Amino acid sequence: MRPPMSHDHLFLKACRRQPVERIPVWMMRQAGRYQPSYRAVREKVGFLELCRSPELIAQVTASPIDEFGFDAAILFSDILIHLPAMGLDLTFEKGEKGKGDGGPKIANPVRTRSDIEALRIPEPARDLPYVLDGIRAIQRVLAGRVPLIGFVGGPFTVASYAVEGGSQGFTRLKTMLYADPMGAHALFRKLTDAAIVQLQAQIEAGAQAVQIFESWLGELSREDLEEFVFPHLARIAEAVAGKGVPRILFSTGTSTHLAGMARLGYDVISVDWRIPIAEARAQVPGLALQGNLDSTMLLGPREPLLARVRAILEAAGHQPGYIFNLGHGIQPPTPSENVRATVEAVHAFRP
Ligand code: CP3
Repeated sequence: MRPPMSHDHLFLKACRRQPVERIPVWMMRQAGRYQPSYRAVREKVGFLELCRSPELIAQVTASPIDEFGFDAAILFSDILIHLPAMGLDLTFEKGEKGKGDGGPKIANPVRTRSDIEALRIPEPARDLPYVLDGIRAIQRVLAGRVPLIGFVGGPFTVASYAVEGGSQGFTRLKTMLYADPMGAHALFRKLTDAAIVQLQAQIEAGAQAVQIFESWLGELSREDLEEFVFPHLARIAEAVAGKGVPRILFSTGTSTHLAGMARLGYDVISVDWRIPIAEARAQVPGLALQGNLDSTMLLGPREPLLARVRAILEAAGHQPGYIFNLGHGIQPPTPSENVRATVEAVHAFRP
């Protein structure tokens, strides 16, 4: 059941390009290691264990709303959460102290046609009940304060982990595009089917907006995007059209591909910091825009950070259809006070 209180929340209005009294702000990875409260939870449970506990999902998803006053919550989960149900042996390695982050590892990556054929499409209610129970638990905790964003990974981004076996670049997957284009399409079709069933189930469980994390489109040429990725992304947008749930397409490195992304049927395009936001706006006419602060600015001093926040708001915030966000996720060493000051600066701005 959708909580009626948040239906007209300013985040949803901004997604629909309706006028708002102030600009909504949320941040990718707003629940994460930069928060002492998140680190305390992670001292007791592993990442996947956390993603499989509805109670902890609700607690962790709601904590940045309580701590910083963000205008939307995002389901705490991962874009690779369904890979075990598809037949892939996924683990997250523990990051060594001081030596960077732990990352996903897949023990049996997808390398051949028969590997692709063996992939199963998950049944969310059976295979991912904790995600759907998590959404229901989040909605109880949020009690209509802010809308909840559900999400999946895009087929190219999920394939990059499924094929490479971890965060190891794109060479094997890109080689597959040229060596076995039919196989690559078959893989993307399956990952797209898996994305669609998860989004439908998340919406059914109470997600009020959805974001597709197709993070690595910037790796591909225009030709390859148009042949291998855009048709699948368009099918995802189409599959969840007409449900009253805004669809956000997120990627990075796409400054030269925004016009193509704008034609895929999404309501909101999320852009990174590589393009001035006003230029991005001109390339996605008729759509809402999300972004585009460089998350690294949150690591630096307050003055240039807030000057940039205000410049982005001046450039993007006077037209309806704008959501303040980062160009990519919050980085773990980010000081909480900079997050708080950024949210306050966005809330102080009047369109
Ligand atoms: O925005 C959100 O906070 C929602 C939850 C979310 C997570 N990951 C939590 C997470 C979302 C939407 C993701 C997306 C995701 N996951 C992407 C695409 C978005 C992006 O950032 O480009 C990718 C490529 C993944 C796969 C993944 N998960 C990697 C490569 C890693 C390791 C790198 C890292 O940041 O640690 C993860 C782990 C992960 N996913 C963490 C979180 C909070 C850190 C886990 C921990 O150690 O506590």
